[in-house]
Amino acid sequence: MKVRFQTAQNAMVEAEATSGDILLTVAQGAGMPLEGTCEGQMACSTCHVIVDRDWFAVLPDASEDEEDMLDLAYGVRATSRLACQIVLSEALDGLTVAIPSEARDMSEN
Ligand code: FES
Repeated sequence: MKVRFQTAQNAMVEAEATSGDILLTVAQGAGMPLEGTCEGQMACSTCHVIVDRDWFAVLPDASEDEEDMLDLAYGVRATSRLACQIVLSEALDGLTVAIPSEARDMSEN
């Protein structure tokens, strides 16, 4: 399966993934600048990504803890998620997320 990352520079990067992979790990493997400081403990928000609108509805809902952490993320949007909480499955083949940038206003899309 594949997932796609839209970089802050508006490039589309495709990465190969396997069902069961964590999106954060795949993103880091593809060279995306997501720090993931707390390594999935939901104690940071440095793995924040903005999920493509069509895909957002397909993902399982965020937990309350994830929502709380997202409140602290910079540049959060209606379809923001923490990449460390997204477990990939075949149903998510083609999942597309954008990497937020402090320098870029995503609302321009
Ligand atoms: S890696 Fe810290 S919340 Fe995702």
